[in-house]
This record gives sequence, C-alpha cells and structure tokens, in this order.
Amino acid sequence: MSKFDTTEIRALIDRRHSQITIEKWMRDNIFDMDIAEKFGREVVEVSHRAEFVLGALFLHVEEHQGGRGLEGGKSELARRLEIPRQTAQRYEQAFLGLRRLEEKMPSAGQVLEIEPSKLALIESSPEPDSIMEDTVSRLDRGEVPSYREIEAQVTEQRLQRQREILDSEPSTKYRPEPLQYTNVWEFIKTEYDFDDKHSFGNAFPEVLEHILYYFTEPGDCIVDPMAGMGFSKGICNQYHRNCLMYDIEPRSEDITYNDMTEGLPEEAKGCDLIYLDPPYFNIRVKDAYNGEVEDFYEFIKRIAEVSYDTVKLGGKVAFMMMDKTIEEYQCLTAECYRIFREVGFACIMRVSSPYPEHIVTTGFGVNYARTEKKLVGRDRVIYIFQKDSE
Ligand SMILES: C[S@@+](CC[C@H](N)C(=O)[O-])C[C@H]1O[C@@H](n2cnc3c(N)ncnc32)[C@H](O)[C@@H]1O
Repeated sequence: MSKFDTTEIRALIDRRHSQITIEKWMRDNIFDMDIAEKFGREVVEVSHRAEFVLGALFLHVEEHQGGRGLEGGKSELARRLEIPRQTAQRYEQAFLGLRRLEEKMPSAGQVLEIEPSKLALIESSPEPDSIMEDTVSRLDRGEVPSYREIEAQVTEQRLQRQREILDSEPSTKYRPEPLQYTNVWEFIKTEYDFDDKHSFGNAFPEVLEHILYYFTEPGDCIVDPMAGMGFSKGICNQYHRNCLMYDIEPRSEDITYNDMTEGLPEEAKGCDLIYLDPPYFNIRVKDAYNGEVEDFYEFIKRIAEVSYDTVKLGGKVAFMMMDKTIEEYQCLTAECYRIFREVGFACIMRVSSPYPEHIVTTGFGVNYARTEKKLVGRDRVIYIFQKDSE
C-alpha cells in the first residue's frame, strides 16, 4: 500500500527534523488517504510533537485533496483518525505557529522540549526572537531548558517592559477622549459606523478603552478569550497593555484557537484583567448560543470558573452582557452576576453601556413597543469583578 514503512516514519520523527523538512517529506510521499491515515497513526504513537506534525498533515491533505487521491480531505482524515474537527483545527494552529517561528529561527522545530503551550508562551513574549536564540544556543551547548525556565524568562521580559513604560510615561497619558465620567457609558454612533467588520455584535472600541483606563495600568497583561474579530489587541497596544487573544473560531491571524470551556492556555495564567464578551445567549441570531437558557448558565458558570483559575490574585474580569427581551424576558445580566459571585468574585463596579437608541429601535422596535406593549433591550451591562482571595 505504501512506499514507506513504520521504521521510516519513526526515523523521520525521531531525528526531530524541522517542520519544513517534514512538510516537504509529506509532499513527496503522502499521496493517498490510506498513507495519510497510516502516517497519522504512527505519529500519535511515536511523537511528543504529534500535535504539530498532525497539523501539518491536515493542511497537506487539504491542499492536495482532489488531485492526488486525497479525496474527502481533512474531514475524511479526521474521521479515520477519530480526531474531532475542533481538535484538528487546534493542531493546525499549533503547526502554523511553529512554522512562523521556524521562518525566523530554522532550528526551532528541533527544540526537544518544545510543545504547543510553550510555543505560544514564546510567541507572546515581548521579544520572542531573543528567547528563541537563547533556547537554541543552550541546546547547542547540550542543555535542555525546562518550561519553567522559559516561563521565567518571558515573565522577566514582560516586567522589564512594564518598568520601562512606567518610567517613561505617566499612566494618565493613555486616556480616552471624550472621557466618560459616570458609570453610564454612552457613545455616539450612526448606522454608518456598522459595516461588515464592525457589526452589532462587536464591542465598541470605546468600551475597552474605558475599561483599560479605569481598571488597568500600562504594561498589564489583558486576556481576551472570546476575541471575535480581534480588535482588542490593537486597542491594548495603543494603551501600552499586552494582550492575548483567543476564540473558538479564530477570525484573524493574531487569534489563537481555544475553547474557553476547556480552560485557558498556561501563558494566560496570572494575567491582570480578563475581558469577557461572550455571546449574549441567543439574542442575536448570528452568534447565537445553541441551547436552552439553563445550558447557557452552565456555560457562563464554566467561564467564570476558568476566569477565577486564570486571573491573578487582585486581578479583574470585565464581563459584558445584555438581557434578553424579544420573545421572552430573561434577566441574563442578574443571573450572570449571581454566578460570578458564587464562583468567588467580588463585584467592584457595574457600568451601563446602552446601545444608541436610534439604532436599537428603528422600525421593528417602535412597532414592537406600540403593538405588543413590550420593551426592546437597549442596555448593555458591564460588571467589573475582582478576585479577592485564592
Ligand atoms: C459577542 S462575540 C465577541 C465579539 C468581540 N468582542 C468583538 O468585538 O469582535 C462572542 C465570541 O465568543 C466566541 N465563543 C463562543 N464560545 C466560545 C468558547 N467556548 N470559547 C472561546 N470562544 C467562544 C465566538 O466565536 C464569538 O467570537
């Protein structure tokens, strides 16, 4: 069935070839689904880098499906290897991350200890190249740096950057204009401010700017686990805050795949603020949460627990939610508040950030109120929670 045997695959992986070499090898050897399956199974058996290699394999199969006996592509391979679609997507992200590093540092893939979480940590550091160079030169000297050591280096770099910023710029310099002075944050918008990229479901950039100004300091680490279109990093950079973005459906290169119900990556641990903008149950069809409202509360409970495990002691969570009003009334904001308090958070502020009235109540809204005697939801609530104890 194949041009190669198990020994050959084992040797290829064992020699810790770079991803680029493994990719080339795939192009020359994997040309039907049976071979792809056999290769995939061997990789899982022998390699501590299985996630990277499988990611490369999925992309290879996708690239060549149709022409080379790889019909069915990724989904067929995932089915044969019994790997869920989302897991396959995570593998691809891990592989693409490693390849980006290899482009800068050809020996990155040979780093024996490197695993996806460590890779993400290095990529998120203020100076990833210097950490990689150091890691590789230590390997050349026969040392194998541990994960803890790499983590300590990244932390030191972040603190150094924070000190530099604090020394050079007073924090008041990064202040939104115009500034909201009260706990009602209203922003003037026209319908024209909503295009394909800035839809109704995207948080207004001004909201994050005010959260950063009032509840964080320059140099802080902000985590956006449900990053959507991925605007938060740009805003954080402008305000000299570091930002890590994740989403279950990454829509830009800066966003790493992560399902928050399964936790957050190591690199996010000890962050200063988590910016949580989850789906608002099924209020908007586009990012509807598919399930009953009780399932939705279970989902919120899980993300509250994960936030509690991730944020540093004294750190904060900015959590946004709207009540459901159309069809039935569900007081989602109050229920979510209860859940976060039960998980252990204190609440240090509640902000109301209404959508502009003319946008919410056009046509449909007015008729709904007049004919059905029902209120349209306009208010978006932002709770600022704080972790007071371990
Ligand atoms: C309201 S949108 C966020 C919008 C974002 N703040 C913006 O301005 O573009 C909610 C996001 O949560 C993501 N999401 C839903 N469930 C998730 C999960 N379990 N883990 C991570 N992200 C999830 C969705 O993919 C969606 O991008």
